[in-house]
Amino acid sequence: MSAQFASRPLVIAPSILASDFAKLGEEVRAVDAAGADWIHLDVMDGHFVPNISYGPDVIKAIRPHTKKIFDAHLMISPADPYLEAFAKAGCDHITVHAEAGPHLHRSLQAIRALGKKAGVSLNPGTPITAIEYVIDMIDLVLVMSVNPGFGGQAFIPSALGKIQDLRAMTAGRPIDIEVDGGVGPDNSAQLAAAGANAFVAGSAVFKGGTMEAYKANISAIRNAAAQARGEAI
Ligand code: DX5
Ligand code: ZN
Repeated sequence: MSAQFASRPLVIAPSILASDFAKLGEEVRAVDAAGADWIHLDVMDGHFVPNISYGPDVIKAIRPHTKKIFDAHLMISPADPYLEAFAKAGCDHITVHAEAGPHLHRSLQAIRALGKKAGVSLNPGTPITAIEYVIDMIDLVLVMSVNPGFGGQAFIPSALGKIQDLRAMTAGRPIDIEVDGGVGPDNSAQLAAAGANAFVAGSAVFKGGTMEAYKANISAIRNAAAQARGEAI
């Protein structure tokens, strides 16, 4: 493994937004068995983003179906009044958007006070300077490579340069760089080379609709990224 990648593990985080909501528990068990490292949970409020997905009660209901890390991505504004509910529902990581409220530092303090890992997500148009003064409060940065709100959108290439800049900004710190939107086996190598170590994928994982398909899909994303990191497959 090259030294530059040594500190942060390679993570594949399927987004259940692309799963069959009529059988969510089963879908979570299937991606767990297929090799998911984290389960990515996209929470949308119809206000911060133009779509509505699910909230803490749904997350609580699927929590018993896997022991994998629950990686919650809150696309909601305000977020602070709901952080405790997401922590109680069983989320391990709670990520808020830098654009979602005026008190990012307070949100991160609240997440850490709940004993959870704190993340900040950056929309495609938000510069990395948004996290400069909260960098000591962050366990992960979630780089949006689509405009948040919907699965199945095309990857926005400017995310690559942003990830490179973030890698320099976070060097030496225990901060995961996660990328979300339009991620698949065709770009995970480039993203890994830029410095992302955690890969969210919805449609690229759930296409095919069976555990065997999910396994092949996850492996394809992981193998391309691992190779770019100089890791044995
Ligand atoms: C978009 C969400 C993503 C989305 C990714 O708002 O944050 O996690 O589900 O879906 P794909 O991988 O299909 O782009
Ligand atoms: Zn997401």
